[in-house]
Amino acid sequence: MAIQAIKGVKDILPADMPLWQHLEATARKLFEDYGFSEIRVPVFEYTELFARSIGVSTDIVEKEMYTFEDRDGRKITLRPEGTAGVVRAFVEHKMYAESQLTRLYYMGPMFRHERPQKGRYRQFYQIGVEALGLDHPHVDIEVLAMLHALFTRIGVGGLTLQINSLGDSECRGAYRDALKSYLKAKLPTLCGDCQRRYETNPLRVLDCKVDGDKFADSPIMLDYLCTPCKEHFETVEAGLRKLDIPFEINPRLVRGLDYYTRTTFELVMGHLGAQNTVAAGGRYDGLVREIGGPATGGIGFALGVERAISLMNSTNIARPCPALFLSALGAEAVAFALPILHDLRSAGIRVDTDYSGSSLKSQMKKADKSGADLTLIIGEQEIANGKAILRNMQTKEQSELLLATLKEDLKKRLLSA
Ligand code: HAM
Repeated sequence: MAIQAIKGVKDILPADMPLWQHLEATARKLFEDYGFSEIRVPVFEYTELFARSIGVSTDIVEKEMYTFEDRDGRKITLRPEGTAGVVRAFVEHKMYAESQLTRLYYMGPMFRHERPQKGRYRQFYQIGVEALGLDHPHVDIEVLAMLHALFTRIGVGGLTLQINSLGDSECRGAYRDALKSYLKAKLPTLCGDCQRRYETNPLRVLDCKVDGDKFADSPIMLDYLCTPCKEHFETVEAGLRKLDIPFEINPRLVRGLDYYTRTTFELVMGHLGAQNTVAAGGRYDGLVREIGGPATGGIGFALGVERAISLMNSTNIARPCPALFLSALGAEAVAFALPILHDLRSAGIRVDTDYSGSSLKSQMKKADKSGADLTLIIGEQEIANGKAILRNMQTKEQSELLLATLKEDLKKRLLSA
């Protein structure tokens, strides 16, 4: 039996690629306009990094990580998200010493052992950004403005930006206590996960898939913010309004990762079903320190590439076609055409050919299918005459080109177009 891909992982086929490349290129251009630089960090790290940053009592760390012992007996994990590795690199390379605000972006695969379903995979891709160094609320506004601009540029509308503040170590404790006393009475009626989280991570109870809608009257973090956190959140709100970035406050928005402080957000879509969060992120002012760096603010987001792609419209995104199809008729012409093909490609012309040496009729079919505008026909007779035939696939007009000056002629026609 043929071997198949692992459950929950997906091939991204050439036909899907134009959308992927369009999204990636749009993100790169936008992020670079905002002063962000690309970073590539390893796809695997010591397990401890993720446990310490994402939090030992989160779903990701408790049950979703691909963790194994390598041949040296060290515990290694395939990265379930990008922030921890980027922060590790930021600390390891002392990037904080180079500038006050380090703006980084990344793209690549992440791995979580979740129950696969539409929009949820075990290997999925994220495009993410992290702005490290400052806890100024304008950095939050900048990051949110960039997220908004990205979805505008890729033509995806109808998303809602939900924001909340999770406070900081000063004020979160009081909220956690209030939430616990509220939950206490309901505890016997809640699911096993909620009962466990009540002890380990009470904020996560609000996000329970089973009982989440039972907490509409729970206390909210916004009522417990200390003055600096409150001012921070108000500045972010005012900034978003000033920049005309639509948002909603969702006071019960909590995140599945423990490193968040203050501003947290999700970009959600009505019709993606349960997997309706396209992008998410927030501030994490304690994380750099937790990983061994100085006390440094940070904020970022990551978008799920598969989810973003599913919302994009492919109709205006052209699949790149060859400019020229080289049709060599017969074995002699195939051999003769080899250096021509090489020369044209070296000159930057996108050329397709199939080496079959088959009949003109069959090659014209292939040329049509390839999407090339022009076909260069070379057979025995053309070699003998020192001239090739150039056929315009749309108008069917044909002209002759001297083999001696072929490369220059084609470069002129194709590269200036
Ligand atoms: P996250 O909410 O865990 O945050 O993931 C961000 C996005 O990745 C989600 O909104 C979703 O679109 C996508 N995603 C997550 N899991 C899957 C999956 N199994 N299949 C498909 N897509 C998925 C983070 O990862 C944080 N590191 C974001 C961040 C960056 N916060 C600060 N900086």
